[in-house]
Formats: sequence, C-alpha cells, structure tokens
Amino acid sequence: MRTDRSLITGFLLALAFGLGIALTQQQEVDPFKEAQRQRELFRQTAGILPGELYAAQGEELFAQKRGPRNASLEACDFGLGPGKLEGAHAQLPRYFADTRRVEDLETRIASCMVRLQGFKLAEIKREDIKALSAFVASKSSEMPLRVVPRTSQEIAMYNLGRELWFHRAGNRDMNCSICHDAYAGSRVRLSPVRSPRQGLSNEWPAYRFEADKLYTLQDRIAFCYVSIGIAAPEFYSEPYIALSVYMLAEATRGRNSLTEMPGFTR
Ligand code: HEC
Repeated sequence: MRTDRSLITGFLLALAFGLGIALTQQQEVDPFKEAQRQRELFRQTAGILPGELYAAQGEELFAQKRGPRNASLEACDFGLGPGKLEGAHAQLPRYFADTRRVEDLETRIASCMVRLQGFKLAEIKREDIKALSAFVASKSSEMPLRVVPRTSQEIAMYNLGRELWFHRAGNRDMNCSICHDAYAGSRVRLSPVRSPRQGLSNEWPAYRFEADKLYTLQDRIAFCYVSIGIAAPEFYSEPYIALSVYMLAEATRGRNSLTEMPGFTR
C-alpha cells in the first residue's frame, strides 16, 4: 500500500514537473482556464487528482491507532459530533468548549491529536496535518459556507481578524485590504484578486500545481504575508484563526460555497 502510493506520488511529481516546464513556455494564460486544463490532464494521465491522494493518506491516518495513547481520531469532534465529518469543514472555524478556543480545521486536528492521541504539539508533523485536512475537507466538497460568529469568543475572533485585515505592517506598510479589497475583481500579474465577500479563502486546502504541493488555508495566508515582506506567524496561532474567521464569515455573507475539496488551483 505504502509503496504503491509513493510510486504514484513519484509519477505525479514527474508529471507535474513536465507540466510546469510546459507552462513556463506559454505566456498570458488565464490562470483559471489553466488550472482547469491541468486538472483534466491529471485526470486523464493519472486517473486521480493529487488532492485525492492527500485525502486518501489522511483517511488512513484518521483511522489508525497512533501516538502515546494508541488511539485513532475517530472520536474527534469537528463541531457536529464525534466523528461526524459530513459538512463540518463548511462551518469551521468555530468555538469548542473542550479546548475553550476558537479553532480552524488545522488547529482542531492538532488539538485532537494532542488530546486523543497524546502527541505533543511540537512533535506533530505538518505533513500529517495537511493530509488529515485534505481528508476532513473532502467531506464538505462544494457545500455552502456557514461560518457565522455567534458566541462571544467567535465574535471576538472575528473582530481581531478584521483588525489584522486592515493592520498596516512591514517595510512596505501593507495590509490585506490594500490588495484584496482595493483590487478585488481586477488582476495582479494575471491573478484575479478576490475580496472576502467574493469568496476569498473558499478553496483550501488545495493542491497548487505551480508549487506541486498541498496548501492549507494557513499555508496560503503565510504565503501572502511573506510575499509582502512580513514574517509569517507560527502555524496554529491566533492570527491565522482570526483572519480565517473574518474571511470565511464574509464569504458566508456573500453566499459563497466551498469549491471542490480539496481544491485544485494555481
Ligand atoms: C500585494 C498584494 C496582496 C496582499 C497585500 C495580500 N494578498 Fe492575498 N493574494 C494576492 C494575490 C495576487 C493572490 C493570488 C490570487 C490567485 O490565486 O491567483 C492572493 C491570494 C490570497 C488567498 C488565496 C486565494 C483564494 O482565492 O482563496 C488568500 C486566502 C489570501 N490571499 C489572503 C490574504 C491575507 C489574509 C492577506 C493579509 C495578511 C493578504 N492576502 C495580503 C495578493 C495580496
């Protein structure tokens, strides 16, 4: 099973590399059409999408007894009850009474690995979180977003997220809004830029074919931080959760749905 999977992954890597070269030779391609084309190529040549491979890995990890407590993650409650995954990702982040925190998908997986399996946060592999995120998210594919801050903790997190969204920082004195609100609907170097109301952040976790990697929403936010010269916060920290609540609550107000889960994007 393991060898099969690494063979497939190796094959996909080689394939993606080839596609990457083909891509750099073209210019001025519409990023959405290009993503669609790349997705079709994967379907035809490999029969499976890279995101589906991550999700399959995650499914295995989810059911495996692991960690010092030798437990699976099947008792992890993502907000709809222990082990109830259908639609759960469409309602995250949310407040959890057991950890007394507002948690997003990644933070929730990590806290379940700590509480149920006995792992220490520092020893949890990022790759495991990514695969598990892909699996849990796959149970909410194309579902309408339902992130509505209700509890005082969720509302506080939304407000913090909004503050961070407009907070100018770094040498270039930038914030998220400068690009995503002011340029929403237009293009920055061919990339269509969306505002939260237009559904920004509804496609993660997603396989990015340009990077040939699965990106979670935290990975994607970190990418924007770094690209404007600001050091990205530590994974699972409050800024990510706050920004995610803000963006996904706004996307919910704009009546957006999640894309295919895991997403497939540039
Ligand atoms: C310099 C302009 C700029 C700034 C500032 C910026 N972004 Fe971005 N962001 C982009 C561009 C360009 C993309 C890529 C659009 C695409 O996918 O083609 C992007 C993509 C994203 C995405 C994924 C796209 C999607 O559709 O889900 C998220 C989420 C995101 N940004 C969040 C943020 C957050 C949060 C901040 C503030 C910490 C921020 N961005 C700051 C330009 C910016």
